[in-house]
Amino acid sequence: MLRKYGVLAGLTILLSACQPSPTFLNSASMISGHEAELYREVLIEAASIFVFVTGVLIWILIRDRSRGDKSLPPQMHGRATWAIIPIVFIVALDGMDFIWMLQTMKAVAAPAHAVSDLNLRVVGHRWWWEFDYPDLGVVTANELHIPVGSTVQISLESVDVIHSFWVPQLSGKTDVIPGQHNTMWITGDTVGEYLGQCAEFCGTEHALMRFRVFVDSQADFDAWVANQQKSAYQPQTEDEQAGYKEVSGACAACHSLNPSEMNTDKVGPNLTHLFSRTTFAGGTFDLNETNLRSWLHDTQAMKPGNDMQISIPPQQFDQIVSYLMHLK
Ligand code: CUA
Repeated sequence: MLRKYGVLAGLTILLSACQPSPTFLNSASMISGHEAELYREVLIEAASIFVFVTGVLIWILIRDRSRGDKSLPPQMHGRATWAIIPIVFIVALDGMDFIWMLQTMKAVAAPAHAVSDLNLRVVGHRWWWEFDYPDLGVVTANELHIPVGSTVQISLESVDVIHSFWVPQLSGKTDVIPGQHNTMWITGDTVGEYLGQCAEFCGTEHALMRFRVFVDSQADFDAWVANQQKSAYQPQTEDEQAGYKEVSGACAACHSLNPSEMNTDKVGPNLTHLFSRTTFAGGTFDLNETNLRSWLHDTQAMKPGNDMQISIPPQQFDQIVSYLMHLK
């Protein structure tokens, strides 16, 4: 039995080692690249000291092991050298660490604002992320798009409790605090999809307050922006019209169908281009018809404690779904 679990554990570790790791060690930006470099330098230094000290200890244990002679080995007294050498060694190492740290801090310090920078406003909600592009008139949720190589200046706000914005492969984490404007910057050097996670405990669904960052080519980013700026899909059929009436009526208490309306005073994400996103509910579920239907039937069963507590009459259910599915 133990052997079976051992083999399973081994296979799991092997498989996870084959997956691209979403940690800062697999960096996709200059910032996390510097952080990873500092981490590796300090790790190598600490590992070298560990190997040296352990090696000397083992060597002494073997050299001075008992061979039946019960007398003490030769004792050393009053040799200041044995105190001075480690002190000098430790001071030199700490000095080196300090210099490495200063170099890293300088390298990742926020650059001065430039006209070409992309300005982004990130708002933490329990338990999802709002992403506003104030200069572009775009508001979205849980999935962030940035063009490769550009400097993104981020201002962070929260409407409820303290969250923390963290995309390990792109940058370090910064707290998102109600009543306070924190700032940070990120840049993505490689086109791809990167996982983000709230890194400050913010309630029962903290672990499911995730998001994704898509680092796009400039052309893909421009196309994405052009689509996000469009107004919401206009209903065509009778069913879609009935669905639209509900979404722009009752649902509008919490959700917007205006592409540039920020959600700070609303409870839920902007729905204008809902189906241009791949996930929903704080990056928790794949966005497809099956999951959307399950969600609208019982949001609390899927993500207990979230603010969406609704009951849709059966005759309107299909109409709402049919309209929402067109919001691309
Ligand atoms: Cu938001 Cu943890």
